Amino acid sequence: MPQAKISSIAAIKRMLESERLSGRPLAAALATAAGRGGGASARMVVVRGLDTQLMELWFSTDVRSAKVADLAAAPQGELCIWLHRLRVQVRLRCRWRIIGSSASRGRDRARWLAAWGEHSPHARRLFAGAMPGKSYANGRAAIPTTVGGEPPESFALCVGRVLQIDALVLGRPQHQRHVHQRVGRGWQSRRVNP
Ligand SMILES: Cc1cc2nc3c(=O)[nH]c(=O)nc-3n(C[C@H](O)[C@H](O)[C@H](O)COP(=O)(O)O)c2cc1C
Repeated sequence: MPQAKISSIAAIKRMLESERLSGRPLAAALATAAGRGGGASARMVVVRGLDTQLMELWFSTDVRSAKVADLAAAPQGELCIWLHRLRVQVRLRCRWRIIGSSASRGRDRARWLAAWGEHSPHARRLFAGAMPGKSYANGRAAIPTTVGGEPPESFALCVGRVLQIDALVLGRPQHQRHVHQRVGRGWQSRRVNP
């Protein structure tokens, strides 16, 4: 397979969009700076949407989850994606905002509703259960068997505005690494040592 192209912002956008639409979940590690213990904290999420014009992406979560509190306290956090087939690591430094049930207008609401529509019945049930991380009561999960069609209050999207992309291809004879930084309305790109 030819080496993946990561030298331009256009190439990165194409690569991410094609991965997102491939039918396989685009899983990423989200690192936040303000974890509960006082340090950083990381967990996996699935990228649900990508706006390649604005360079924003989003994942869904429970508004009561710790990551939402982390992002509210320190909105800059990194998503790290490993594209196994292409042997590419993409690190996306983002500024995050949370869209909850009060996102009643415009593009944000449309994204929020569309994301809910794409969740399976199984995934929807989780949002109607007890708070994430809460101890089981009587040894059982408090998750209802069905949920209605409307998104519940707990359903939220975390939308990240990408500020910097650091892409690394593991290749032969050598690795390649490019950093793309948002500057004003454009992007500045440079090749750096892997
Ligand atoms: C592959 C994978 C994908 C996941 N995707 C999500 C996701 O999109 N949103 C989410 O809130 N949690 C997702 N989770 C669960 C989180 O990693 C995490 O365990 C949970 O949200 C609690 O995290 P927190 O306490 O840091 O908020 C995923 C877990 C795995 C293993």
